[in-house]
Amino acid sequence: MSVGSDWDRRFSDPSHPWSTEPDRLLVDLVDGLEPGRAVDLGAGTGRNSVWLASVGWDVTAVDASSVGLEKTREAAEAAGVEVKAVHQDLYRWSPAPATFDLVVMANLHPEPAHREQVFARSSEALVEGGHLFVVGHHADGIAKGAPGPPDPARRYTEDRLDGHFPGVRLDRLERIETGAADEGGSYDLVLLAWGVKVAGGGSPA
Ligand SMILES: C[S@@+](CC[C@H](N)C(=O)[O-])C[C@H]1O[C@@H](n2cnc3c(N)ncnc32)[C@H](O)[C@@H]1O
Repeated sequence: MSVGSDWDRRFSDPSHPWSTEPDRLLVDLVDGLEPGRAVDLGAGTGRNSVWLASVGWDVTAVDASSVGLEKTREAAEAAGVEVKAVHQDLYRWSPAPATFDLVVMANLHPEPAHREQVFARSSEALVEGGHLFVVGHHADGIAKGAPGPPDPARRYTEDRLDGHFPGVRLDRLERIETGAADEGGSYDLVLLAWGVKVAGGGSPA
């Protein structure tokens, strides 16, 4: 089964509605940046793309799921904003270099064999001075029942992000825990990476 068809099935399941609220970490970090060109990698049903467009960004949403992209288009239309929807497998993605002022990768979790390449392409797509936002489920969350990919190899760890975005200086690399594991439902453990494209690259401050 291809990446896209698996997600098409999930996005078509009416018993599992997908959030339309943007990621709150993204909102906090992007607030105050001058809007420019943004690309949302693995945009899903477009919650982050639509929010970015609503605050002035020129947004390209990339995903392998045509159902997700259709929902993104519908959400953009309902919000009265424009989002460019691009149907693309990110494992075969070659963006034009230095094209975007912001790269967003929220809950993408590429397969390990493709992770390095997706991260490298994401870095290449940034202009110098452009920002990188990555958030995903931490591997350590599995033991406490946090949501995310069941395969720990696909989840994020500090070592899997730090130093893997060529030319990007990570200013933040933080675990963020929500809820209490013993109270069930709301517990989550995510890893946030936030950085800027610089000439020489770098590590977290
Ligand atoms: C968990 S959803 C996250 C959606 C959105 N970023 C969010 O945070 O709400 C993961 C998304 O990544 C997309 N995706 C996974 N692997 C992909 C690939 N190789 N190429 C393109 N999209 C991919 C899926 O189709 C799905 O829309």
